[in-house]
Amino acid sequence: MSTATTLLAESSVTTPLSTRILTGDRPTGALHLGHYFGTLANRVALQRAGNDLLIVVADYQVMTDRDHPGDLVRVVREIVLDYLACGLDPDRTTVFVHSAVPALHQLMLPFLSLVGMGELSRNPTVKEEIKLSGRSSVGGLMMTYPVHQAADVLFCKADLVPVGRDQLPHLELTRSIARRFNDRYGPVFPLPDALLGEMPVLLGLDGRKMGKSLGNGISLRDTADEVAAKLRSARTDSERHIAFEPERRPEVANLLRIAGLCAGRDPSDLADEIAGGGAAMLKRVTADAVNAFLDPIRRRRAGFDGTDARLLLERGGRRANALAEETLDEVRAAMGMSYDQRR
Ligand code: TRP
Repeated sequence: MSTATTLLAESSVTTPLSTRILTGDRPTGALHLGHYFGTLANRVALQRAGNDLLIVVADYQVMTDRDHPGDLVRVVREIVLDYLACGLDPDRTTVFVHSAVPALHQLMLPFLSLVGMGELSRNPTVKEEIKLSGRSSVGGLMMTYPVHQAADVLFCKADLVPVGRDQLPHLELTRSIARRFNDRYGPVFPLPDALLGEMPVLLGLDGRKMGKSLGNGISLRDTADEVAAKLRSARTDSERHIAFEPERRPEVANLLRIAGLCAGRDPSDLADEIAGGGAAMLKRVTADAVNAFLDPIRRRRAGFDGTDARLLLERGGRRANALAEETLDEVRAAMGMSYDQRR
């Protein structure tokens, strides 16, 4: 078994050394604790095990469910600093934004020709996102972004794609596209595997799902005071005695889960210790656990600035462009579009 597997709590895939791994984030807001325990910790482990890790900050994917992309420059910079603060190695991580890699997007055209409209409209994750967006009409990008995401994965011929469960339909589509392309034009793309990571079910402090763009979570870049203030105003319930009962008391269970993840403790044990201390003590214990956990991340973040983030994106963009152009050349050649050839 490789080191990568032993370091990964939920994964069942053994990664040979130097597996090429691609994953991504939509830059819609600051990364939070859910991201850390769901994916960032895994990425760091996979990288430390010697794999080649690429991360796409999917700026073109932001516009799937909203009209305005927001302050992308600031949000992207903060996300890159989140990566570095969590321990990704600035010398070995390839991070890039979609918009810096033109050849990647050109792959989308042949890929679109390989998928059916019915297939696109049946994608369960897309259906769910359309529902959640609460919009009366849906743009073409919402329906087709899973094909775009296939280009994110296939441009660099990734072997492994760490994703949450909601992304599995997209990975299935990516594999279909690779298979269909190879069948029709000859072998160009390897079929990537999913590396399923379980997002811990964390609620926001208002009881809704913890979301990047909802502003209800604990961001990795929150200061100790911000964390304490957020937890003081977190929703709980009116029962004095603290117990871990996720079904009946979701808000209290959520704080216990957060404290448990940060302190590496079992939420029920924490509840037993707090017991009659009530919500005030629960919030204090949780704030202390979160702050102790975030402290080393904050210290690492303080060692980087906006220039580091920019340089990382520049270098990542250069490498991604080189890979994308190479793949696009192969695709054009396979499709009979190499017009500079004499014959
Ligand atoms: N859709 C992914 C998400 O919302 C982000 C993403 C974009 C991605 N491109 C990707 C994930 C490529 C994996 C591979 O989380």
